[in-house]
Amino acid sequence: MAKILGIGNCVLDIVLLTLKYPQEDSEIRATQKHLQAGGNVTNMLHILSQLKHETAICCTLGKDEPAKTLEKDLKSYNISVKFIQTFIQGKTPTSHIVLNKKNASRTIIHYRDLPEISFEHFAKIEIEDFDWLHFEARNMDNLPGMLNIAKTFLTYQPTSLEVEKDRPDIESLFPLVKVIFFSHHYAKQKGHSCAADLLNEVKILAPKSSLICTWGKKGAWFMSPNGEIQHQPAKKIPEVLDTLGAGDTFNAGVIHALIHGDSLKNAVKSGSDLAARKCQQFGFKNLLHPIKAKQSLANIRQITNAKTFIAKTDEHPFDIVLIKFEEKIKAYENNCPHQDVPLTDAYKIDVNPFEKTIKCSVHEAFFNIEDGECIEGPCINDYLVEVPIKIEDNGDIYLSKNLN
Ligand code: FRU
Repeated sequence: MAKILGIGNCVLDIVLLTLKYPQEDSEIRATQKHLQAGGNVTNMLHILSQLKHETAICCTLGKDEPAKTLEKDLKSYNISVKFIQTFIQGKTPTSHIVLNKKNASRTIIHYRDLPEISFEHFAKIEIEDFDWLHFEARNMDNLPGMLNIAKTFLTYQPTSLEVEKDRPDIESLFPLVKVIFFSHHYAKQKGHSCAADLLNEVKILAPKSSLICTWGKKGAWFMSPNGEIQHQPAKKIPEVLDTLGAGDTFNAGVIHALIHGDSLKNAVKSGSDLAARKCQQFGFKNLLHPIKAKQSLANIRQITNAKTFIAKTDEHPFDIVLIKFEEKIKAYENNCPHQDVPLTDAYKIDVNPFEKTIKCSVHEAFFNIEDGECIEGPCINDYLVEVPIKIEDNGDIYLSKNLN
């Protein structure tokens, strides 16, 4: 176990899971919403805590409700909040994040009006008490001074830097740290279409540092001091669910392995495996536990011909109506287009095998079982929303991905 100090951002992430990416000027429903502590350094420390390190964060927060939520979260992650700098003016940073279930993309709208950590605040921390210091390369007014203190006063403790975006004079930081994580956004901003080109450029500026550049699904490229550039392919995973903070997870995995004395090559492999593990679940909790099996909606044997079965699931905003009819299983959202209420709101759904319809219990709208069209009732010609499903060989029915 090591003592790790992270200097960077702590943000209230408001995460909305949607079935597709919304169009501009439209309204869609989120299937889930949750609030969690985020920010690159926060995510990283959260994972390092799970890996049994003693972690502390140095970030700025406001004196508002979001700050209280964040402090509570940080404490529950075992991240020490002792070095947080608070401001009376300004708001705690927030990110509104759309997680698109269809392709697992994450779109972040970040709001920040708080100042970054001041040099004076950082200078009061006894950094010698820590075994590793990690910085986000974002506070260019104060970071050079902070890194210079670290370089001057720390003899054995390594420092690492995460470079996500280009900022004026950012290159001056590179020789001051032992390990640098570059994002592919930064590489592209510097005009490179591949990670190796960036590393070749940077090695002249920071010949004594270990350099790593991640490139999403393509994997990571890395280089030890005076070494060759090597490539670690990304691990293939069955289904990507959530890529938010995958890079932060990678960094945590690398730092953890380096603290344990692994080579850079093995550390990059560990980071990449941990990031792959993270992408297969929502959020960061219990990252070291085995992946939870997917929940089925029902088994085909539970569904009687010409009767409906209502399946409840966290993965969809509505319950799902499953109907077996003429040897086919159809699945619709349990939502009547007439008044947006469950078809089952007043009573159960009636199935009429002769008419080949199902009837909403609220205002008697009749829908074709085959295609969900309302052929009689208050929402005539409207449709139920069909939900794509897949049926496994053992008869378990799952939601399928192919939603339009
Ligand atoms: C993910 C993340 C989010 C945060 C955003 C901006 O890497 O750290 O948790 O809202 O980026 O810092």
